[in-house]
Amino acid sequence: MTYRQMISPPTHVKPSHFNDSKLTAIKTHYSFLPFICSFLLRKKKMGRDLALFLCFSILLVRSAVADWNILNQRIWKNNNGLKITLKNYCEAWRINVELHNIRNFEFVPEECTDYIGKYMSSTQYKVDSEMALEECTIYLSNTFTLTGDGQDAWVFDVDDTLLSNVPYFKIHSNGGEKFNITSFEEWVRKRKAPALEHTLNLFNEIKGKGIKIFLISSRGEHLRDATIDNLFKVGYSGWHGLILRSDEDNCKTMQQYKAEQRKLLMTKGYRIWGMIGSQWSSLLGLPSPRRTFKLPNSLYYEP
Ligand SMILES: *[C@@H]1O[C@H](CO)[C@@H](O)[C@H](O)[C@H]1NC(C)=O
Repeated sequence: MTYRQMISPPTHVKPSHFNDSKLTAIKTHYSFLPFICSFLLRKKKMGRDLALFLCFSILLVRSAVADWNILNQRIWKNNNGLKITLKNYCEAWRINVELHNIRNFEFVPEECTDYIGKYMSSTQYKVDSEMALEECTIYLSNTFTLTGDGQDAWVFDVDDTLLSNVPYFKIHSNGGEKFNITSFEEWVRKRKAPALEHTLNLFNEIKGKGIKIFLISSRGEHLRDATIDNLFKVGYSGWHGLILRSDEDNCKTMQQYKAEQRKLLMTKGYRIWGMIGSQWSSLLGLPSPRRTFKLPNSLYYEP
């Protein structure tokens, strides 16, 4: 299989490429280990406890190593003769989601769910997010001076911007399942989403400057109480408006709905200096704020 063939179907509604003989080979490579164990256990000279300990260690290491070996295993030569690993492929998938080259995916490709899950719980994800937010701070301190007339505004997304849904996706195949609105809303109603730490700091910094904060969320109006409770619980307070989707907004795309809400704010005389979200649909569309900042999120795509 070529690299191009791997990438081509844009929606990724395709069977896994890794159900092939390569993956089976990697798995069988490790399957002889139980035989080593039984051999060790039959050795009279070695204490039984020591043998058991060794076997147990081998099995533990084996599962961890197998996991990473699958990601690091050389898999294909692509059209240019480049040897790539599953990790290369999945990182390319992730970065191209961020670049908005890959759009409208319904779920994370099956072979990349482990990789995406690891990334979303990694230090790298935190550092990537932090750097995006530091750019907001630099912009806030260097680029403009506030007029102080109470019309300066900033817009935040809620999901995976103020609140993290990583714990939800962790138990839903790291985005490897088609988005289920019913079960997602069950999670929202539990009010258990943690804050993204660094967004909370930035939120307070912006609030401290006297800029009015508006939250424009793709969540429905029926989730208002749950959303407010959850935001308060993890430390957010003092926003100026929380805009949620009405029934009538449901027939619009997320991009249309969010752009219309920004337009309404601007009609009221607000100058939207900046905006932070984790979805392209939050950041695109007119009118646009002076600056937009995107946080990494390859768990789902909101069209
Ligand atoms: C979606 O989630 C609900 C609630 O957890 C569940 O009952 C339903 O079967 C799920 N639907 C699909 C298609 O998985």
